[in-house]
Amino acid sequence: MKVIVVGTGYVGLVTGACLAEVGTNVVCVDVNEAKINDLKNGILPIYEPGLEEIVHRNYQNGRLSFSTDLAAVIPGAELAFIAVGTPPGEDGSADLKYVLQVAQQIGASMSNYLVVVTKSTVPVGTAVKVNRTIKQALQERDVLIDYDVASNPEFLKEGAAVQDFMKPDRIVVGVNTERAQQVLAQLYHPYVLNGRPIVFMDIASAEMTKYAANAMLATKISFMNDIANLCELTGADVNKVRRGIGSDPRIGDRFIYPGIGYGGSCFPKDVKALVRTGHEYGHNMRILEAVEAVNEDQKKVMFSKIDRHFDHNLQGRTFAIWGLSFKPNTDDMREAPSLVLIEALLQAGAQVRVFDPVAMPEARKELGESVTWCTDLYHAATDADAIVLVTEWNEFRLPDWSRIQSSLKNAVVFDGRNIYDDVTLQKKGFNYYGIGLTADINTVLI
Ligand code: UDX
Repeated sequence: MKVIVVGTGYVGLVTGACLAEVGTNVVCVDVNEAKINDLKNGILPIYEPGLEEIVHRNYQNGRLSFSTDLAAVIPGAELAFIAVGTPPGEDGSADLKYVLQVAQQIGASMSNYLVVVTKSTVPVGTAVKVNRTIKQALQERDVLIDYDVASNPEFLKEGAAVQDFMKPDRIVVGVNTERAQQVLAQLYHPYVLNGRPIVFMDIASAEMTKYAANAMLATKISFMNDIANLCELTGADVNKVRRGIGSDPRIGDRFIYPGIGYGGSCFPKDVKALVRTGHEYGHNMRILEAVEAVNEDQKKVMFSKIDRHFDHNLQGRTFAIWGLSFKPNTDDMREAPSLVLIEALLQAGAQVRVFDPVAMPEARKELGESVTWCTDLYHAATDADAIVLVTEWNEFRLPDWSRIQSSLKNAVVFDGRNIYDDVTLQKKGFNYYGIGLTADINTVLI
């Protein structure tokens, strides 16, 4: 089976590489020539555990190739995935310009039956537009070629994308013909041998499923952040509350960790887009509006704690920031809460020393020379007034606290992910602040 994947961003590259890994012939296409050349030379545009190895192996064995010429590679393909970007417009709606451009080019160059699948996260109704665009392109050529459109949203987590693709919880496929269903069932057969389902449904429902999944997960996080903030005020400990509720399987113990707000390329964008879709149909997505508002506030919570601790005077203070990416195991800085915190600290006249194991080159594009770039966590802590743990990378989990204590000016730790034990740190003489812990209220009251 020959498959074309258009767009070598996060989703496209993982999809293409993982399809090739099980034996499918895949051509990954992108308009960005530099990116395609890099890929041919084994240089990947993103950091994702395990991906480089799969790309190299399948490029070498010839199952995975790269091209900038969509029109040249479409003939003979059975499936074409559209995995190009859908950047949010000013009003939060997803911009379909690139998706429809690709649909047009596919219609202009296809020569045989083809299933055109949207893989990018696109609002409900996009497949209809893709279909209309292809139909028009074929009419302009005055040819009759059978094709189907389908929707196959991805549920990949950054940092675990390869694993998620190879061993999915489920594969959601929206189709409106038996033929398209068969093609996709065949393509995905190797990935569901573990008994996980391919859930076939109509196209609109598949498109909605993606948004509903992300919106539900974002809701869980904002809900827990709200509870955490209330815990601080009432003297409760959100870690205990989390364990208390998470053991109920109806709630579940995953994705209920409070923190400094969700970031990344999906949750912020998809929540906004779903709210926007609601508006378009005259329906207020009240819960999601609150989810977003809570998240915006949550990104500022750490700054408030820092500001309060230092009596609202941060001028001339120095802060060590541990972790910059929006979560561990990725270099993605999109919507990273670290940026909001750093901006606020700089605004308040503080100096910022940062360290992240992987994301510093990406972060540098945003932050330039406004901060001091450090070589490791200890270097970042040198002569700082406090440490702020922002991203819970494994290498931050067990630092040498006595070494840290001797290099800090003040023994203060702000833990944005609740990864340290408050009691242990307090015994060692640190002032400790987490999110939603009783420790906070005690310190504030003293
Ligand atoms: C997410 C979805 O998980 C994935 O299924 C979808 O396809 C794309 O969006 P991703 O953005 O890679 O994936 O990250 P994820 O691991 O889900 O984390 C998202 C954000 O939520 C991060 O900022 C993370 O720190 C935060 N988070 C997650 C919490 O604050 N608490 C939690 O309990 C879990």
